[in-house]
Amino acid sequence: MIVFIPHLTKLTFKIHAKDFLSSTIFMKILAIYSGKGGVGKTATAVNLSAVIAQSGQRVLLCDMDSQGAASYYFRIVPKKKYNSSKLLAGKFDKYIQQTEFANLDLLPAHFSFRNLDLALGRIREEGRSNALLGLFAPLQTAYDYLVLDCPPTLTILGENIIEAADLVITPVIPTSLSILALQRLLKLFKKKRVQQKKIGAFFSMVEQRKTMHRLFLDEYGDHPLFLTTRIPFMAEIEKMGLCRNPVGSDGKTSLAAVQYNELWQEILQRGEQL
Ligand SMILES: Nc1ncnc2c1ncn2[C@@H]1O[C@H](COP(=O)(O)OP(=O)(O)O)[C@@H](O)[C@H]1O
Ligand SMILES: [Mg+2]
Repeated sequence: MIVFIPHLTKLTFKIHAKDFLSSTIFMKILAIYSGKGGVGKTATAVNLSAVIAQSGQRVLLCDMDSQGAASYYFRIVPKKKYNSSKLLAGKFDKYIQQTEFANLDLLPAHFSFRNLDLALGRIREEGRSNALLGLFAPLQTAYDYLVLDCPPTLTILGENIIEAADLVITPVIPTSLSILALQRLLKLFKKKRVQQKKIGAFFSMVEQRKTMHRLFLDEYGDHPLFLTTRIPFMAEIEKMGLCRNPVGSDGKTSLAAVQYNELWQEILQRGEQL
């Protein structure tokens, strides 16, 4: 068998002791992003938001994907009159909704978000290169973390997101296509001159019994882009579509919740290294 393993440039991180994600003075923006769909972005955004909120930090989960999966998981529908124009004009305050969970609010997606790219393109033509930069600044005192559940796009929205985020968390299934998506993400970072060390990749939906997965884990497991925490393929996570709640919210012991908590601890450490 000939195995093609895409090449990822080796990166080295300079570590500065600087208070970053653990600082609650300024709201931090975590974008859960990949150019590829179905890799676990929404599952990560929902469960990380729940874990962060549970730790006592105030979180706003912002559903940027017109498909509205994150909103669906929290059983939240957008209020009337909310749309992409309101979002981009910064008039979204009154559309933020409380979830059933302490410290966790949600700004739902709207069907009109499918046109966000067109709107961002127009704004760029008018001379403002990034409409997302500063858009959420008025929320600084209300939240510690803003978690963006992003659609799988490498277009202007994607460019705006990677520039606006403090950290870009990208789930990667251990397969060729997911690694290719990661390569494209690196390319986008380079094109926009955004520091690649803002990326925290992690292996998602890992199935150790699969030879292919083991191969990719062996090849890339030590790459500095990757966090060491891996989220296995778990029925518990898959079933979120039925339960419509973050994992572990029924109060029972949840292995998946433990994994997401580990992921969060590692993201905090990564943030402190920036
Ligand atoms: N670790 C996991 N184990 C099992 N199923 C998962 C896992 N992560 C995500 N899923 C399921 O895979 C599908 C795609 O995940 P999702 O988070 O919606 O991906 P994305 O947002 O990247 O499109 C969903 O049905 C979700 O429930
Ligand atoms: Mg999604």
